[in-house]
Amino acid sequence: YPGTCYIQPIIDSTNTFLKTKLAEGVLKDGDACLAESQTAGRGRQGKTWVSPFASSIYMSIYRRFSGGYQTISGLSLVIGLAVADALDELGVKDVQLKWPNDIYVNMQKIAGILIEIEGAVGDEVDSIIGIGVNVSLPEDVSGIDQAFTDCNTHTLAPISRNELVALLLKFLNIHLDTFIVYGLVPFMDRWHSKDAFYHKAVKLLAGQSVIEGIGMGINETGAILLQVNGELQAFHGGEISVRGI
Ligand code: BTN
Repeated sequence: YPGTCYIQPIIDSTNTFLKTKLAEGVLKDGDACLAESQTAGRGRQGKTWVSPFASSIYMSIYRRFSGGYQTISGLSLVIGLAVADALDELGVKDVQLKWPNDIYVNMQKIAGILIEIEGAVGDEVDSIIGIGVNVSLPEDVSGIDQAFTDCNTHTLAPISRNELVALLLKFLNIHLDTFIVYGLVPFMDRWHSKDAFYHKAVKLLAGQSVIEGIGMGINETGAILLQVNGELQAFHGGEISVRGI
């Protein structure tokens, strides 16, 4: 692995750790941070990511992309697919994706992704890609505000966290190499085959507004497509969430 990997027993957040290192100017492209637990794990939309000791993967990777912001539209979808591929390879059954980048099994969340864009220097965009995968959560875990599950509930034998990290890094590197050259297009069929809401009734929550429609997958910019009153509409943006009806 080309980068430095910072391994921490307990940390506030692996994303925050890399952000601090980035601000200090000591990060190289591909550097990563892994922790056994987080005291201030962060989820999307300002939520907390519950992070008990040694029962999950808490990992962040720093990647720099050239070509400006438009090059990385769709990045989060590709990261979601990389996580799904790693789980598939370990025998986790029926892994599905929920736009933009939640990973579900049986409509219960098994992994989440938090990508933080740290601004551009000229054409270069800095990103911190944070991945949390529930592997074997304690029976008495509390504070998770949505339906959740973990890998070992869906495999024949307990999985190895070391192996999972190796597979996550493998698929991230392979997929990002392709994504940088070809964008989202080579991934779209596979994304659709794992889309939890493909051809299903959904509602989009965007601020105060609710839009109901039929999920039609994604387009090549990473927008979610919905059939609304017979018309295909594309929706972009970080503050949208999707629910089944
Ligand atoms: C979400 O689904 O809301 C995103 C969850 C992302 C959690 C991971 S765990 C490793 C990294 N560090 C954090 O503080 N968050 C991400």
